[in-house]
Amino acid sequence: MTSRPYVLLSCASSLDGYLDDATDRRLVLSNDADWDRVDEVRASCDAILVGANTIRRDNPRLLVRSAARRRRRVAEGRPESPVKVTITASGDLDPSAAFFATGEQLVYAPDGTATPGETVPMGERVDLAAVLADLAGRGVARLMVEGGTGTHTAFLTAGLADELHLAIAPFFVGDSDAPRFVHDGRFPWHAEHRATLVEIRAIGNVALHRYLLSQSEVDRHWLRAAIELSTRCPPSETAFAVGAIVVDAHGDELARGWSRESGGTEHAEEAALAKLDPADPRLAGATIYSSLEPCGRRASRPRTCTELILAAGIPRVVFALREPPTFVDGRGAELLAAGGVEVVELPDLAPAVREVNRELL
Ligand SMILES: NC(=O)c1ccc[n+]([C@@H]2O[C@H](COP(=O)([O-])OP(=O)(O)OC[C@H]3O[C@@H](n4cnc5c(N)ncnc54)[C@H](OP(=O)(O)O)[C@@H]3O)[C@@H](O)[C@H]2O)c1
Ligand SMILES: [Zn+2]
Repeated sequence: MTSRPYVLLSCASSLDGYLDDATDRRLVLSNDADWDRVDEVRASCDAILVGANTIRRDNPRLLVRSAARRRRRVAEGRPESPVKVTITASGDLDPSAAFFATGEQLVYAPDGTATPGETVPMGERVDLAAVLADLAGRGVARLMVEGGTGTHTAFLTAGLADELHLAIAPFFVGDSDAPRFVHDGRFPWHAEHRATLVEIRAIGNVALHRYLLSQSEVDRHWLRAAIELSTRCPPSETAFAVGAIVVDAHGDELARGWSRESGGTEHAEEAALAKLDPADPRLAGATIYSSLEPCGRRASRPRTCTELILAAGIPRVVFALREPPTFVDGRGAELLAAGGVEVVELPDLAPAVREVNRELL
């Protein structure tokens, strides 16, 4: 797998899903407070990408507007504004466009295309995965994609998006000649495989919706929630504090539990699974998130969490920290994998689990 930047799509739309109207004038969808939110997101990114037609139609500057944010970036050793990036098949870009006026720009175009600015030749056609790999090679870790329709559609249908910020303005455009958020297409997120909604915020009368799209971001979201849950465990000198959450294939939470939730030596996974009907058909598509590797050996009870997970028919387990051999030597991950369960370890979240259990480790 080639590494790619974290890809955040950002878009403002009308209630009926349009990004603009059909006139030559740019339609104002956001309000000042929402623009300020977008500015903060821009300031957090290494690069901003728009499609060539947005440059032709809207002539955006794509700069960080706030002087304080620009100063903060410079103090961190970064340029005042992110690198500006565009993709084009035609190469039809005006060198006097605001895009080319300041800062650093990159134009991804097919071989032999004459474009203004620094052009990266991409072979016969511009492949988005290759663009992202090239950006990663230039040190871009976080990319903001600001549209328009063709560009959002291309990133989404290719499954190359981690997060979506959709700001909805409270009015209708009502003209199908206007550009929509996306074109028709086959999207990885549909009725049977939904995106994960993580936030809705009212910004004046604009509604910001924040969704996680990629499996890796969805996994991090739920695993962080499981770690947060583990802080509720009653203290113990002989057992770890663990949180566990069972989530179905649609991204709906089925149950959650934490160590010693109902007293005694109860484990987090056990507490969560005890709240579910073993015949629940949703378990067959579920994932269990556990801050600590499920136990494979256990001093206190007849059944290990590994056995409970296998018996429940849960096909996927995500955890942060391997069970330290403090109390028993677990090997839960190996036993689960041997039982046909997909096991995902996210070790970069392990320090947070160690922190919760610092007295024991
Ligand atoms: N509300 C918002 O948040 C927002 C944000 C941005 C834009 N907009 C609106 O969106 C509209 C523009 O949307 P749009 O779909 O026409 O334009 P777009 O997505 O900005 O640009 C499309 C163009 O990008 C290039 N492109 C896209 N994917 C490519 C690929 N895989 N390989 C090579 N080139 C690729 C092509 O450029 P060439 O044509 O040069 O070959 C293509 O025609 C405007 O009305 C603008 O106001 C709204
Ligand atoms: Zn256990």
